[in-house]
Amino acid sequence: MSNVIVIGSQWGDEGKGKIVDWLSYKADAVVRFQGGHNAGHTLVVEGQTYKLSLLPSGVIRGKKSFIGNGVVLDLKALQNEIKTLEEKNIKIDNSILAISQSAPLIMSYHQELDKARESELNGIKIGTTGRGIGPAYEDHVGRRALRVCDLFNKKKLSDKIENALSHHNPIRKGLGIEELNKNTIISEIDSYSDFIKPFVKNVWDELFKLQKENKNILFEGAQGALLDIDHGTYPFVTSSNTVSAQASIGTGIGLIENCFNLGITKSYLTRVGEGPFPTEQSNEIGEKLGLLGKEFGTVTGRKRRCGWLDLVLLKQSVNIAGLKGLALTKLDVLDSFEKIKVCISYSYKGETYKYLPLEIEDTSQIITNYIELDGWNQETKGTRKFSDLPKNAKTYISFIEEFVGVPVAMLSTSPDREDTILFKDPFNN
Ligand code: GDP
Ligand code: IMO
Ligand code: MG
Repeated sequence: MSNVIVIGSQWGDEGKGKIVDWLSYKADAVVRFQGGHNAGHTLVVEGQTYKLSLLPSGVIRGKKSFIGNGVVLDLKALQNEIKTLEEKNIKIDNSILAISQSAPLIMSYHQELDKARESELNGIKIGTTGRGIGPAYEDHVGRRALRVCDLFNKKKLSDKIENALSHHNPIRKGLGIEELNKNTIISEIDSYSDFIKPFVKNVWDELFKLQKENKNILFEGAQGALLDIDHGTYPFVTSSNTVSAQASIGTGIGLIENCFNLGITKSYLTRVGEGPFPTEQSNEIGEKLGLLGKEFGTVTGRKRRCGWLDLVLLKQSVNIAGLKGLALTKLDVLDSFEKIKVCISYSYKGETYKYLPLEIEDTSQIITNYIELDGWNQETKGTRKFSDLPKNAKTYISFIEEFVGVPVAMLSTSPDREDTILFKDPFNN
């Protein structure tokens, strides 16, 4: 029995979907444990592209899939995602998918509030995905969330809706949004409860049983460590914990033993939305990275900000998330760069920093100290053997490993499932 937790080590979109799909061939179950349909995980298998937001990326291989209690669930988004997959001949029924009874629901009023706040000019604009993620998690910790289990108890549901609206209506009024009445919400919920019912299970118990049977469980994180609500670049973060430790809490599986924590890492760096980005290249380098890496958001289509790999932040993520190894992706995007820079420290007001200091108010004033490495000027796209990689690409990989102190366990050289090199099997460590 072994477990693997996959998380993003940067600001998301590192290629988690591709790596989870690849690894899932060895998994008996694949589990989502946080986030919601703000995630956009892309898989390319035999020429077919799949974009998943809520379903664990193991579904394409027909693996048993779980949506844990830590996920905020938009029923409409889930239904649409299942429909879209069915159009591609991937059938999702309750022999494949189980959803936690205690997952909080994202309601239309969460999405409306998220969007209204983002359009307010006075507050801090985060650049959210507008999916209602923040407001849904707020209701969860505010103990007024509607949860999956509430859908099937009409009396309880009615009281809970009243309770939620007593909070939301004054806020809506203040923001100039029409107030809601209970019946509108009841009919919103009624339209999805039959669809969801067959999938609803006691997920923690099912996972416990799988553990007892010595099965391999693969945990699929969304977003990335730098977007973690506690450890990320607050307030420019998402509203959940995105680091590996959340895999326990967001599923109820207990402490996960015999586990490899794998951090998916883009060979350069991107960010969608607002917030600090010390190595951002708002110039032709950033444009080139974006163009070659096709850096447009999977969920919102927004152009991603691009820059050099920041080893200061990567090491911070490795340590905070307890990563045991990295899966380095999109190496091929760097193929045509003469010189490749990596950031190894920051300077600010005469001080040198090996981490992102919270006391710096204006992060745009941070000076990034780089090491410049020679590029390889050779195509690595589609390379499937380490020995076929150019010498300078190997040097780039070793430099990263040495700096952050953990090995590169996997390498990805194109979006395609098969263009993946395994150095160290996360399920066998
Ligand atoms: P995720 O959110 O971490 O799953 O990542 P996304 O799917 O949002 O973004 C990663 C993008 O890079 C997707 O379009 C992938 O198909 C693509 N991708 C993944 N690995 C590679 C790679 O090694 N090379 C290239 N060129 N593209 C990749
Ligand atoms: P995957 O799983 C990249 C970013 C948003 C915004 C911030 C808060 O595909 O890597 P939210 O809607 O969560 O309240 O937005 O987090 N963000 C992501 N960026 N990839 C993601 O997911 C993201 N999910 C949220 O752009 O800056
Ligand atoms: Mg993504």
